[in-house]
Amino acid sequence: MSDTVRIVEVGPRDGLQNEKTPISVADRIAFIERLIGAGLPTVEVGAFVSPKAIPQMVGSAEVLRGVSHLNGEFHVLVPNEKGYEASQAAGAKVIAVFASASEGFSRANINCSVAESIERFKPVLARAKADGIKVRGYISCVLGCPFDGEVKPQAVVDVARTLFDLGCYEISLGDTIGVGTPLKAKHLMRAVAGKVPAQNLAMHFHDTYGQALANLYAGMEEGIRVIDSAAGGLGGCPYAPGATGNVATEDVVYMLEGMGIATGVDMDKLLAATNEVSRLLGRRPVSRVANALNAKKKR
Ligand code: HMG
Ligand code: MG
Repeated sequence: MSDTVRIVEVGPRDGLQNEKTPISVADRIAFIERLIGAGLPTVEVGAFVSPKAIPQMVGSAEVLRGVSHLNGEFHVLVPNEKGYEASQAAGAKVIAVFASASEGFSRANINCSVAESIERFKPVLARAKADGIKVRGYISCVLGCPFDGEVKPQAVVDVARTLFDLGCYEISLGDTIGVGTPLKAKHLMRAVAGKVPAQNLAMHFHDTYGQALANLYAGMEEGIRVIDSAAGGLGGCPYAPGATGNVATEDVVYMLEGMGIATGVDMDKLLAATNEVSRLLGRRPVSRVANALNAKKKR
């Protein structure tokens, strides 16, 4: 597996959206600056969603404007046309729409069925195409749903193909509640890669049950080479009590570098970014690698 992997750093969005302690716009901008400086050029920085649903993402326009001079690709979530308009007013060049493979999560997260969500995305994708804006497509609950339980791979395949046909350049498959295990992840990736080219797929795994790295490895064996992760393993899931956040970027980088796969990430700088945001949140990072390196530094 000696080739390259592209990391999409989602800590400033997926991580911080689930943290109870609010982080100011200035501190979010400083966090993103540190991540870029650490060698993570693709960063999801905010979301143009209902402030009632996700108050942590209020100020995403200011965050996006505040980092636009930096050399990087900045992603923002957009659930509908209202969000699209706000994203464009703030200068977004890459947006992400987000669907679910399960009906229960779709309802809870965006208050509509999976089919209705696709209808909402159609005008967004059409406008983005006309405006020259890249659109990423997320699918949640690909390995299990907190409401519906088991999710059939075919449900994921269908939504993935639909989003790809509508013009999403990449489909990010989310194990939202981190319940997947390696063989299931492998079979799912194989099934989806049968309908959407593997080069257009990304893995977005939360680490609730400690399986994320193993699942990523299994997906890499199926040829997937884009990994979403969050510095320090920030975040949680409001629908999964006890859930941790995304797989930690430090843990992913440590694994990949150990496999001889260059990531371009400077671990010391990444650790500094994680330690600073952890200080603001008032807690230790959950990343095993971050904790190990911090302990080593203290010795
Ligand atoms: P709704 O209530 O059905 O929408 O919410 P609505 O059209 O009836 O509007 C209700 C109110 O929201 C109105 O305001 C609208 O103006 C406002 P009011 O009149 O009550 O004052 N509104 C908006 N405000 C700001 N930006 C917008 C917007 N749209 C409507 N774009 C809606 C539907 C989708 C808006 C809502 O449910 C929502 O914002 N949900 C956000 C959910 C979210 O952000 N979840 C987290 C991200 S997904 C995720 O984390 C998973 C992922 O990481 C992958 C994985 O791990 O699986 C991506
Ligand atoms: Mg997520």
